[in-house]
Amino acid sequence: MNDLDQLVQAAQADFLQAGAPADLENAKARYLGKAGRVTELLKALGALPPEEKKARGAEINAAKQHVEAALNARRQALADAELASQLKAESLDVTLPGRKRGEGGLHPVSRTMERIEAIFGSMGFDVADGPEIETDWYSFTALNNPENHPARSMQDTFYVDMKDAEGRWLNLRPHTSPMQVRHARAHAAKYASQADMPEIRVIAPGRTYRVDSDATHSPMFHQCEGLWIGENVSFKDLKAVFNDFFRNFFETDDLQLRFRPSFFPFTEPSAEVDIAFSSGPLKGRWLEVAGSGQVHPNVVRNFGLDPERYIGFAFGMGPDRLTMLRYGVNDLRLYFECDLRFLSQFK
Ligand code: PHE
Repeated sequence: MNDLDQLVQAAQADFLQAGAPADLENAKARYLGKAGRVTELLKALGALPPEEKKARGAEINAAKQHVEAALNARRQALADAELASQLKAESLDVTLPGRKRGEGGLHPVSRTMERIEAIFGSMGFDVADGPEIETDWYSFTALNNPENHPARSMQDTFYVDMKDAEGRWLNLRPHTSPMQVRHARAHAAKYASQADMPEIRVIAPGRTYRVDSDATHSPMFHQCEGLWIGENVSFKDLKAVFNDFFRNFFETDDLQLRFRPSFFPFTEPSAEVDIAFSSGPLKGRWLEVAGSGQVHPNVVRNFGLDPERYIGFAFGMGPDRLTMLRYGVNDLRLYFECDLRFLSQFK
């Protein structure tokens, strides 16, 4: 092996040793740089006699080409390795299961509202909607609850320091009962004579407001008003409606209903409605679920109807409470905290 073959071999080995591009460039300088071994050999050519110069020059150039080839091969190998490790680091396993978008669902109270509407709908009740900012007249006066009457303090109403266009004080409705009057008046106004008027059978679910806040009361809560007015509608119909409703709502016949005498200015007689389950975790406990009563003649008059002819019942129940009972929720505040750990259980 002559000196040039040795040189090429040494260069190849040196280049292979270089583990990074910077090492490789240093190794290159040792052979091809200004003072590199190949460069030195070329410089030495000048000292040779002319007849040797040509052959020696060709040999050195051939060796130089081998050195350059080895250098380029190593450069490419290092670049390939670098790319491969980069690709590996950034690799993406497309076979992994994807991250799904969160799936939304109805709020438990909305579910209850829909359920109430569906069940009463199947019993022939319309669904009515009305304002949450009410006038004093609809919230109280029209409901046989005159100004300055102590019965007004049954509800801790949010009053608004403002009057409507007709000079009536505004409040956040403390119950859905104003909808009895709004709906009945609109219904009666549609018929030229009372003789043509079909019965009023309606529910009015919605938000209501009172100055109240603890585990079982929230300043904003829900109610569902019910009203059935006709020429011969009695308490026995109310009892039948409630019986059907609660059995349907809780999907059980294992349920008792109780009417407890009570007072509301807009009904006479009035009753609180309690239910009790005969089995399950709430077995045997009476739970108040609604207020109800036969609509007071003064209120029927405010409907624009003749109380000598029209009679019926009204009720108001609490969908928040019904939701707690149906799903076993023990703190009402969970409804409003927007905690997905709670809400996603109702998807
Ligand atoms: N409005 C009453 C309340 O909020 C409930 C009720 C409605 C009672 C209709 C009787 C008739 O407590």
